[in-house]
Amino acid sequence: MNYNHVMNTYSPQEVTLVRGEGCFVYDDKGNRYLDFLCGIAVTSLGHAHPQVTQALQNQVGVISHVSNLFRNELVGELAEIIDQKISSAIRSATGSSVSGKVFFTNSGAESIECAIKLTRKWAHGRRNLIVGIEKSFHGRTLGALSATGQKDKQVNFEPLVPGFAHVRLNQPEDIDKVLGKDHAKDTLAAIILEPILGEAGVWPVDIEFVRELVATAKANKALVICDEIQTGLGRTGRWFGFERLAFEPDIVTLAKSLGNGFPIGACWARSDIADAFVPSDHGSTFGGQPLACSAALATIRAIETNDLVANARELGQWLISQLGKVDGVAQVRGEGLLIGVELEEGIQAKKVSYKALTNGLIVNPIRESTIRLAPPLILDMDLAKTGLEILGEAISA
Ligand SMILES: Cc1ncc(COP(=O)(O)O)c(C=O)c1O
Repeated sequence: MNYNHVMNTYSPQEVTLVRGEGCFVYDDKGNRYLDFLCGIAVTSLGHAHPQVTQALQNQVGVISHVSNLFRNELVGELAEIIDQKISSAIRSATGSSVSGKVFFTNSGAESIECAIKLTRKWAHGRRNLIVGIEKSFHGRTLGALSATGQKDKQVNFEPLVPGFAHVRLNQPEDIDKVLGKDHAKDTLAAIILEPILGEAGVWPVDIEFVRELVATAKANKALVICDEIQTGLGRTGRWFGFERLAFEPDIVTLAKSLGNGFPIGACWARSDIADAFVPSDHGSTFGGQPLACSAALATIRAIETNDLVANARELGQWLISQLGKVDGVAQVRGEGLLIGVELEEGIQAKKVSYKALTNGLIVNPIRESTIRLAPPLILDMDLAKTGLEILGEAISA
C-alpha cells in the first residue's frame, strides 16, 4: 500500500480495513476482526448500522449540503434532542432545571475550540484563565492542545495559547496551589474536565476531587466545561459521564460517536451562556450540515430505541469484573464500555494488542502497559466472551 504521500502523524497497523458490519471489520485479505475499539470510541452502533445507513442514503439524495447562511430543519431538530438529553441528565444528576443551545462542529477539537471561545466571550475579557487536569486530552488544534494536560504533546508546538493552567488528577490540594497564587481565582473563567480521562489510559476522575473543583469554579463565578467527547452518548453506561459525578456542567462538548462515524461534533451551553455569542462571533462551513445531522439523529434514536445505554452498563460491568480475573492483569479501570486494562509489570501493551490483532481482535495499546477497550454499545454477551477470551490469550502469550 502506498502511504508515501500521507503525513507521518500516525503509525498505522499493516492491516488495510475495507469493510465493516456490526461488531466486526474485515481486511483486504478477507480476515475478520472483532472491533473492541470502534475507530477510537466512534462506531458505538457498530459498522454499517442499518438506521444510520438508511438516514444517510435518504439524505444524500435530497440535499447533501446547506450552509449556515440558510436554515436547515435537521439542525434545529438535532439541537433540540441534544439539549433534551443533556438537560434531562443534569436534572436527574443534580435536580437543576436548565435548558441550552448547541453549536455544531466537525470534530472533537473544534467542539473544544467553541467551548474556549464561548468562555472567553462570556467572560468579556475580564477573566481569561481556564484550569484543566494534568494528563487530560482535549484535542490537537492549538486551543484544545493548550487545554490538554500533556507536556509531551505540546512541547514542539509552542507558543501555546495563553490562559491555561493544570492541576494534578485527583489531588484536591493542587486546586488551591494553582488557584491560590497571583489572584488566579479572580481571573478564573472556567475549569475543563473529562469525567474519565480516556486518552490518558482510562483514569476516572474522583467524585470528591470533582466536587472541590466544581465548588471552586462556582464560588468564583467561573464555568464548568465537561468534555464528553469520548465518554458521552452511552459509552460509560450512562448518557453522559458527568452523571456519575453528579455535578452540573455549564458547557458540554460532544463528537466521536455522535454520527457513528460520520464526522460531527457539538458544543452545548446553558442558554444564558450560549447567548454570549452573536452572529459573526463563531462559525463553520460544514458544522451542522444535513448529512452529519441526519447521521447523528439516527444514531441518538438507535441508542435510545435499542436501550444501548443499559446494554453498555450491564456488559461493561460484566467485562470489568471478568477482566480483573485474567492472569497478567494488574488493574481494570473505567465504566460501562470504556475500559482501561493495566497489565502486570513486564507485559507490553503493544505486544498484547498485536497478538490480539493476529487472533482477530482489535484493542488499543494506549500507554506502555495499558490497553484501552471501547467496544460497540451493541455488543452482546457471546461477543463479549469471545473478546475476553482472545484478549486473555494474547496477554498470557
Ligand atoms: C476527551 C476528548 N476530547 C477531545 C478529543 C479530540 O477529538 P478529535 O480527535 O475529534 O478532534 C478527543 C479525541 O480523542 C477526546 O478523547
